[in-house]
Amino acid sequence: MNNVEIGIIGGTGGIGRWFADHFQKEGYGVHCTGRRSGMTIPEIAARCRVVIVSVPIAATMEVIDRVGPLLPEDSLLMDFTSLKEASVRRMLNATRAEVVGCHPLFGPDCPSLAGQNVILCPARGERWLRWTERLLVKAGARVTLASPQTHDRMMALVQGLTHLETVLMALTLRESGESPSSLEAFSTPVFRTRQAIAGKVLAHPALYAGLIAENRQMAAILDIYEEQLTRLRKRILEGDAAGLAALLEESGPLPDTPEHAEKGNAP
Ligand SMILES: NC(=O)c1ccc[n+]([C@@H]2O[C@H](COP(=O)([O-])OP(=O)(O)OC[C@H]3O[C@@H](n4cnc5c(N)ncnc54)[C@H](OP(=O)(O)O)[C@@H]3O)[C@@H](O)[C@H]2O)c1
Repeated sequence: MNNVEIGIIGGTGGIGRWFADHFQKEGYGVHCTGRRSGMTIPEIAARCRVVIVSVPIAATMEVIDRVGPLLPEDSLLMDFTSLKEASVRRMLNATRAEVVGCHPLFGPDCPSLAGQNVILCPARGERWLRWTERLLVKAGARVTLASPQTHDRMMALVQGLTHLETVLMALTLRESGESPSSLEAFSTPVFRTRQAIAGKVLAHPALYAGLIAENRQMAAILDIYEEQLTRLRKRILEGDAAGLAALLEESGPLPDTPEHAEKGNAP
């Protein structure tokens, strides 16, 4: 199906641009659109049998509503949104086309798909799902099929919890009254790494706020988090280092970080 033309709404930047380049290298005709450049959404819908929505989360639903009704049954509507429950439901409501939710778990600084995780959420139809899966696997991606609910629960841990901790660190540092310059002479390599991550998060407030606050599965994670913080707080305030160490031992070692997670950071 190399004669398939792929349209990417949001393909002029970020992860959409990255996939546009990738699909072109694989020999597909790719058409991209952004807010100010490229084909219009009706032109993309008329020309492309595969249409991917890759715009910021805040604009995703509106774009799905605009493009969905224009697609025929034998085409594919897919999105790259980092949260899947809402976007997959919206795509199913907006179109008669086949629907697949897709979340590439890497960012546009990644050199290739080789070894990278990609989640596919099957929603309607088998044909384009298998086509998408084959295309990704052929390029070396590690593809996992999951329901949108499972995906968002995992993302509450992988992205929500991680970014929540970073935001908490940034807010705590700010409230401590110490300026970054006064901390510099006292900083360690680990602290500087965490500060750099916090800087990245604070530079894109809307993106990271969306990943934390728009994930409906965060409620359960927050309950566990608060419970654990209370356990830790008690031991810290009591100066009970042995008790704290026992708690850490209880949780056991975390699995090793696989190599493929080191490059191409997704938000
Ligand atoms: N970046 C990542 O690491 C990453 C990884 C996995 C998934 N995602 C998901 O991919 C999606 C895009 O994220 P991104 O980081 O690639 O975003 P981005 O860098 O901000 O790029 C967004 C693209 O969407 C276009 N756009 C912005 N607002 C639009 C609107 N209202 N209507 C139509 N097009 C619009 C932009 O076009 P112009 O600027 O040319 O107008 C650009 O082409 C998000 O849902 C995100 O959750 C991102």
